Amino acid sequence: MNYTIAALPGDGIGPEIMASGLTLLESIGKKFQHSFNVTVYPFGGAGIDETGDPIPTQTIKGCTGADAILLGAIGGPKWEQEEKTPEDGLLQLRKTLGLFSNIRPIVVSDSIAHLSPLKTERVKGTDFIVVRELTGGLYFGQPKHWNDDEATDTLFYKKSEIERIVRQAFELAMTRKKKMTSVDKANVLASSKLWRKTVNELAASYPEVTVDHLYVDAASMKLIQNPTAFDVIVTENMFGDILSDEASVITGSLGMLPSGSHAISGPSLYEPIHGSAPDIAGKNMANPMSMILSVAMMLRQSFNLNEEAQALEEAAKQAMDADYLTADLGGTTTTTAFTEQVKAILEN
Ligand code: NAD
Ligand code: IPM
Ligand code: MN
Repeated sequence: MNYTIAALPGDGIGPEIMASGLTLLESIGKKFQHSFNVTVYPFGGAGIDETGDPIPTQTIKGCTGADAILLGAIGGPKWEQEEKTPEDGLLQLRKTLGLFSNIRPIVVSDSIAHLSPLKTERVKGTDFIVVRELTGGLYFGQPKHWNDDEATDTLFYKKSEIERIVRQAFELAMTRKKKMTSVDKANVLASSKLWRKTVNELAASYPEVTVDHLYVDAASMKLIQNPTAFDVIVTENMFGDILSDEASVITGSLGMLPSGSHAISGPSLYEPIHGSAPDIAGKNMANPMSMILSVAMMLRQSFNLNEEAQALEEAAKQAMDADYLTADLGGTTTTTAFTEQVKAILEN
């Protein structure tokens, strides 16, 4: 089969991990005889440097016309003062493509459980998914402005926006352990009161799914205290952003976590949950697992290539099990050496 992919390497470690992901995608293509037609587009700080805009018109066009989109990471100190920042570009891309459903899986296989800073017996068996609403809430609500004296952000949700993401989470829970935790701040926030009411209404259509509600402050504690208790977590944009970075530590590193973002129709976007890591950029130190697992998510969720996705995940796991570990996990393996190792396993 032929697949068209828009690749947006972005900034900082973005291009380094993208190179890793694309190298291994090519190996998968060879092994399983697929042709992945990848076109690279400028985005984020790289977009500003090349065209003055973090999301150039050619990039939007390339993304909307693709079967799937791969993104490295964007942002960095160089572009913080721009009128339109790389982060603005990322939000615009998500909004333009209608990518409201952001899936962030957190899985700890037994063989890597010792890499977590948490006690091994606590993290063993962790396997949950954060379903993060991605195109609403504080990120997009109007009014939004600031000056030297005052600043405003608006936490706005329409009921229909809550319904569609919560329904996604219920559907996902039905394919798993049928347990859903909705995270909100309904003791304080109006938007959370509507969120909780909507979850309870929809629960009637999914009687097999056990639903519980947690306030976000308690949820952040329980995630670390007892991560194996969770199956599907559904939450609004900002809470999902924060909780998923926290959850990444259960696996040992932020550099381990992939994500997939989906719209009602049109291409999905796959990206690590982390940022451009300016502190380690250009040093060949980044952990490419987040990108490799994002490529696997793309193969499975956009192309239905389950065997191919599994082969890639298995090869990466084997490399880690053989102690090829990047610095974030306490090892000395470089980004390129890890990639070469996974490639060798795949092509063996
Ligand atoms: P960050 O996620 O870039 O880095 C946080 C810490 O995690 C750093 O110490 C970094 O070295 C480490 N880290 C992250 N990814 C890693 C990897 N693959 N391997 C090893 N270590 C890794 O967050 P930050 O420093 O707060 O933000 C830096 C920039 O990235 C900012 O401009 C921010 O807005 C942007 N950002 C972009 C995205 C995105 O592109 N989706 C996500 C988050 C942050
Ligand atoms: C993420 C990032 C983005 C977000 C930023 C860079 C806009 O932190 O993808 O998690 O907050 O959504
Ligand atoms: Mn984030």
